[in-house]
Amino acid sequence: EKNGYEHFMLKEIFEQTQSIKDTFRGRVVPASKELFLGGINEVIPKLVEARRILIIGCGTSWHAGMVGEYLFEEFARVPVEVEYASEFRYRNPVIYNDDIVLAISQSGETADTLAAINLAKEAGATVLGICNVVGSSIPRNTDAGVYTHAGPEIGVASTKAFTAQVTVLTMMAMLVGYRKGTLSKEEYEKHIDELACLPEKIKSILDKSEAIKELSAKYVDSTNALYLGRGYLFPVALEGALKLKEISYIHAEGYPAAEMKHGPIALIDEQMPVFVAATKDKSYEKIVSNIQEVKARKGHVIAIVTEGDTVIKGMADHVIEIPETLEALAPLLTVIPFQLISYYIAVLRGCNVDQPRNLAKSVTVE
Ligand code: M6R
Repeated sequence: EKNGYEHFMLKEIFEQTQSIKDTFRGRVVPASKELFLGGINEVIPKLVEARRILIIGCGTSWHAGMVGEYLFEEFARVPVEVEYASEFRYRNPVIYNDDIVLAISQSGETADTLAAINLAKEAGATVLGICNVVGSSIPRNTDAGVYTHAGPEIGVASTKAFTAQVTVLTMMAMLVGYRKGTLSKEEYEKHIDELACLPEKIKSILDKSEAIKELSAKYVDSTNALYLGRGYLFPVALEGALKLKEISYIHAEGYPAAEMKHGPIALIDEQMPVFVAATKDKSYEKIVSNIQEVKARKGHVIAIVTEGDTVIKGMADHVIEIPETLEALAPLLTVIPFQLISYYIAVLRGCNVDQPRNLAKSVTVE
């Protein structure tokens, strides 16, 4: 069932051209410039009026939630808190009965996320889910929700489920923002058109997998790695680091690039690979200076850049060019090279990528 791929993880990374289409199906309609999310249609008015949204998840799903925070705050101008389910449930959180609690989970079975949902329900909040496994416990325990439809994800490291979660969050934030009037018709339609272009763009990144494999080989013996990004790409840096550590056992940390000088910069030397998500957006100039700071300390910079970028190409040790897209959609593209890099490094290190040590696909105990 691996369809000729060596591992499920690789198969699932490559499936993203299709899985994202499955997430769109019947929901993104470029011809009429419309979006539909049947599962939450009835709660859209509540989302439009919401004073705040609490997003809850663990691991990769929490990273998707972080992207969701940027999306909802930008498009729908509603304050968002992103919470680790395990912390939320045990710290006596303040939950208002007009809060919207949005739980994100691939498996729909994560114990802490489920417990956090129950707490939110007891407090009278409206609880929504974004899950992949149809009929799992979380969708059964929420008021409404949206399935990601990414298809079964077997590899322990989440890949296509993440892009599907971010896609759903993007659609939700767009819908709420448009209904609310905080996202203009023009921007709304521009994002619908661009969403429809993503599968092709993902394909063009996957087409570079041989080159990505070659550069990954250079970092097989690293013992540490840093991942940097700003804005929408900060959660992608966190996700890149998690992917590397869980399957290759290389210690990796994700940071918002500007935080580097508040500590992690002390770690940089000629042994340290620094993976930077540095596509063209409003913080581009800033990330260019962060790259210079790394180079000044002899770190190795591997940068994901927008096609045609010459500035970073002149500074970084390696660049991976990806197609241009809208800033809010950039996580869906920039994460792909990071997934591939961790996969190839782990394989070259001889690791069991589909079933890394000490990890389970679904964490049903706390
Ligand atoms: O099934 P869930 O999305 O609730 O799982 C959450 C985490 O356990 C999961 O994302 C984990 O961090 C993955 N191994 C990440 O690749």
